[in-house]
Amino acid sequence: MDRPVQCSNIVTDATSTTAVVLAAMEKTADPRLKGILNAVVRHAHAFLNEVKLTDDEFERGLDFIRRVGLTCTDSHNEMVLLADVLGLSTLVKVLNNAAHEERTGGALLGPFYRAGSPRYEQGHAIVQGTTLGPPLFVSGHVLDTNRQPIRNARVEVWQASPVGLYENQDPQQPEMNLRGHFFTDAQGAVKFRSVRPAGYPVPTQGPVGDLLRLQKRHPYRPAHLHFVVVAQGYATLISQIFADDAEYLDSDVVFGVTRDLVGEFERHEAGTGPHPQTQEPYYTLECVFVLGEGVSTYPTPPIK
Ligand code: BEZ
Ligand code: FE
Repeated sequence: MDRPVQCSNIVTDATSTTAVVLAAMEKTADPRLKGILNAVVRHAHAFLNEVKLTDDEFERGLDFIRRVGLTCTDSHNEMVLLADVLGLSTLVKVLNNAAHEERTGGALLGPFYRAGSPRYEQGHAIVQGTTLGPPLFVSGHVLDTNRQPIRNARVEVWQASPVGLYENQDPQQPEMNLRGHFFTDAQGAVKFRSVRPAGYPVPTQGPVGDLLRLQKRHPYRPAHLHFVVVAQGYATLISQIFADDAEYLDSDVVFGVTRDLVGEFERHEAGTGPHPQTQEPYYTLECVFVLGEGVSTYPTPPIK
C-alpha cells in the first residue's frame, strides 16, 4: 500500500499522538469535563514522553491498576488508599483550602468513612460496649470566619480504637463503635466522650502494600480523630485532629498532617482536672472548627 493516507487524524509519530487524541475528544460537551480530560491526556502523554516506559513496564503498570480495582470490596477501598499514599488526596485538600486561610484546614477523608453513624446527645460517649483504653473527653466549637458560633452544625466523628483498628476492621468491636454524630448547641459547642485512638498501619495486604514495601516506606498513620462538619450555608469541612504526642507525626504515610491539625491531648491524673469523677488517668482535647461560607455537601462514603 503506497497510496498516501489523506487523514490528519491518524498518528504518524510520538509527537503527533497527543494532538490526535485531543482532537478525538474535541466534542466533549461539558466544558469542565473537557478541560479535565484534556489535561489528563496532556500530562499522561508528557509523562510517557519523559519516562519512555518499555512495553513490559507499561503492562505491569496496567496490571497494578487492575489489581487495585480487584482488591476493592464493599468494606475496603484500595483505590482511595492508592490516592492517599501517593499524596493525591492531601494535595487536593491543600489546593482547595489554600485560598481560605481563615478556615480550618481540611484533611483527606480516608477509606474508613461510613454513612449511618449513630446520632448522640451532647456529652454522650461514642464508645459502644467495652473498649478499653485511656478515656478522652473532646470539646469542640464550630465557628464562622468572624469567630461567631454556628449552631445546629452536624459534627461527625470516627476514629480507630486504642489498638489501632476501625470497627469495620475488627470483629471484636460492636457495629458503629467509635463513630457518631452530634449537633452543636447555641454556642456552637459539641462535647463527647471517647477513648484515645492509637496510630495504625494502613491496610498492606493488597497492591498498595506491595508498593509501600518496594518504596521501603512504613505504613503508619499517627493517632488521630476524623471529623466531618456540615452546616447549612457553609462549605463542609472534612478534617482530622492528630495527637501532639503521637508517633509518626512527621512521617504520616498518607501525608495528612499539617501544623494546624495537631491538637493538644492534655493528660490528667485520676480524680483531678475538668472530669474529677474519672477513676483513671485521662485526656482532654479541645478543637475549633472554622467554616467558610459556601454550599454544604456530604462526602460519599468509600465503603458501606
Ligand atoms: C484514615 O485515616 O482512616 C486513613 C487514611 C488514608 C489511608 C488509610 C486510612
Ligand atoms: Fe483514620
